[in-house]
Formats: sequence, C-alpha cells, structure tokens
Amino acid sequence: MKNIVILISGRGSNMEALIAAREAGQLPVNIAAVISNRPDAKGLETAARAGITTHFIDHKAFAGREAFDAALAECIDGFAPDLVVLAGFMRILSEGFVRRYEGRLMNIHPSLLPSFPGLHTHQRALDEGVRIHGCTVHFVTPALDHGPVIIQAAVPVVDGDDEATLAARVLRQEHLVYPQAVRWFAEGKLALVDGRVRLAVEAGNAAVLIAPEVR
Ligand code: GRF
Repeated sequence: MKNIVILISGRGSNMEALIAAREAGQLPVNIAAVISNRPDAKGLETAARAGITTHFIDHKAFAGREAFDAALAECIDGFAPDLVVLAGFMRILSEGFVRRYEGRLMNIHPSLLPSFPGLHTHQRALDEGVRIHGCTVHFVTPALDHGPVIIQAAVPVVDGDDEATLAARVLRQEHLVYPQAVRWFAEGKLALVDGRVRLAVEAGNAAVLIAPEVR
C-alpha cells in the first residue's frame, strides 16, 4: 500500500475528506503523517483524533525559505512517502523542494487553473464575472499553482453569490476530486507524459467533474 504524507496549514477539510475516504475503504493508502507549519491548525487535532501521527514545524523559526523547506523535507522523508499531498498548505515552496518530490507532489487549488492562481480565487472569479468556476488537482511544479492537471471540477457562479457561497460550492467538489486523484495515484493510474497527465481509466471524461448545480 502506498504511503502518503499530508501537509496542511489550517482547517484541514480536504485532509478530512482523504481520511474519510480511507476509513470508508475507498482510498487504499496509509496516511503516514500530517505535518503543519502552524501550531494552531485545526486539522492537526482532527488528524490526531483519527490516530494519525502529526508534526508541527514552525516556518517562523527558520532564517529563510530554503532552511524551512530543508527541515520540512527531512521530516517528510522520515516517513518515506510515495506521495506528498498539499491540502491547504499555505507556503510557497522552494524550487529545490519541488524538484525533490517531482511527480509525487500534489496540490489542490480552488480555481479552474490556469485561471486565478494565488489567493482570493473566489472573490476574483466574482469580480471577473465568470459564469463557471471550480477547483483543480495538479502535480506541483516550481511555478505557483501550476503543473500537470489531474482532475478538475466545475461549478456555476450564480446571481447573488458572494465569496462565502461560492467557496462553499467549490469546497464540496474539492472533497470529491482530491480523494479521487489520490486514489488514481495509489492505483498507479496516473502517468506523466510530456508534462501532461495520462489517466489510465476507462471513462475518458473521468477527470472532469461537473457539479450537479451546473446542469
Ligand atoms: C482549499 O480551498 C484548498 O483548495 C486551498 O486551501 C483551502 C484549504 O482548505 N488550497 P482546507 O484546509 O482543506 O479545509
């Protein structure tokens, strides 16, 4: 069974979705550890309650990004993970760190990349007046919120939406697509070919999720 390590900074609801999928027998992975860069990350308690080893490495205790990333990598490597899962880990990672885990570092981003990389994605989507928004799971490259796309889910932007309603609609989809992406990885169904993800599943459109609200 594949070993994964999950990195968080806060609420940890995506992490929870992964734990729930594993507990439901739908995610054949061992969650070896959950690591946070913030001591008060709510997700740390959730992980501990689920019996998962937790660690906290305070980025503020390090002189710079490289030093923190080196300590983080040392902690991660202690668990020999096949996959490192970024689940709301609010740190920009150094190029060295990203290269170290190339092809086995996944992120979820709350927009349909390449639209709206960075922060405040839901407000920016509202400000632009887009009609469709969503989330993306991708392999991580050194560029921020960039890399081979594994799966995307689309949701509508509806009249009367505010940042909170739109974020909640997207988050429901995040909790579906992240376990799916990690499951595909665990089952060996994801291959990287010429910088793109090739998905070895029968349904050709499995990597596109359309929220029921769109229909
Ligand atoms: C999610 O919206 C995720 O896409 C983004 O940060 C948020 C984390 O939420 N990267 P949670 O901590 O998983 O609840």
